[in-house]
Amino acid sequence: MVTTKRVDLRSDTVTKPCTAMRAAMAAAEVDDDVLGNDPTALRLEAEMARITGKEAALFVPSGTMGNLISVLVHCDTRGSEVILGDGSHIHVYENGGIAAIGGVHSRTVKNNEDGTMDLDEIEAKIRDPRLELLYPNTRLICLENSHANSGGRCLSVDYTDRVGELAKKHGLKLHIDGARIFNAAVALGVPVHRLVQAADSVSVCLSKGLGAPVGSVIVGSESFIAKAKILRKALGGGMRQVGILCSAALLAVQNNAAKLENDHKNAKTLAVGLNEIKGLKVNVATVETNIIYVHLEETSCLTAEKLYKKLQQHGVVVVMLGGPYSIRIVIHHQISESDVQYTISCFKVIELHGLPCYMQDFVV
Ligand SMILES: Cc1ncc(COP(=O)(O)O)c(C=O)c1O
Repeated sequence: MVTTKRVDLRSDTVTKPCTAMRAAMAAAEVDDDVLGNDPTALRLEAEMARITGKEAALFVPSGTMGNLISVLVHCDTRGSEVILGDGSHIHVYENGGIAAIGGVHSRTVKNNEDGTMDLDEIEAKIRDPRLELLYPNTRLICLENSHANSGGRCLSVDYTDRVGELAKKHGLKLHIDGARIFNAAVALGVPVHRLVQAADSVSVCLSKGLGAPVGSVIVGSESFIAKAKILRKALGGGMRQVGILCSAALLAVQNNAAKLENDHKNAKTLAVGLNEIKGLKVNVATVETNIIYVHLEETSCLTAEKLYKKLQQHGVVVVMLGGPYSIRIVIHHQISESDVQYTISCFKVIELHGLPCYMQDFVV
């Protein structure tokens, strides 16, 4: 089968810069950002500090670097310890950078299905400083909002505040990996600054749901950002006429944040549509933002890999994440309502039933 249609549902990182972004990049006012003089970078940073309610902000090349720098600023002594979720992006998908580069020890707490960690468990994992002869020194707690591995579930203001209080009680800092904090804020109906009020630092991705081609911003106090700037340079993340990237990111923040609600609506429609197809299971109630995990029922004659290949023949591209019987779909602003309907129709024509996979090897 030959199709010219392409519906790219791999991630919200796959968006292409729109015409207005390309025009803004071409016209961007720029200067040397390592010297602190790029006017467009300064404008983006001021805007992000304002939106998040923090004193200062810093543009960084990626979310991974944003998290790495933030953890390293808070854990400035090698052998410091961070408490974070066992399913968190920092722990699972960032190459162990905080350990490899910063000498930071991770102490994981189980992520619940909704992306939270139990407060009691967090508290139980904080090391007793009186035993510093033996223990690493707990310095930091990290949250992730929305929580990607849990299917984009949102941490509430109340939960975040309570983790913040716990951190304060023990003299710890709180960092939020807010790669999709705008998605969480929109889904919860609260302003971003309120959602991150309890955090000492937040890393916000501009190149995910917001649709910028490149970049993240970290926010925090003036002194946090001053230290972060030095680390960014040491890690090779200091860039020169970076206003070219920041101009597109500014448009993304100004124009695309409002589109996230529609992404969430499209995600829900797709989740409901797929869940109605025999052989597929989607926990619709857990689709709070733009991420959907689709599970093949055990009786299905397909594995995720086979389903992935069949979808590709129809021009629908997904990601195999979460085991041999699951795929992940992520909605973004360049996926329309008709793309969603087309995707549902493609799943419908794929033969999901027949002899279950685990029996196929026994057929001679
Ligand atoms: C929750 C979360 N944090 C951090 C990152 C890292 O962002 P980047 O790919 O820009 O390094 C990602 C990327 O997908 C993510 O999903």
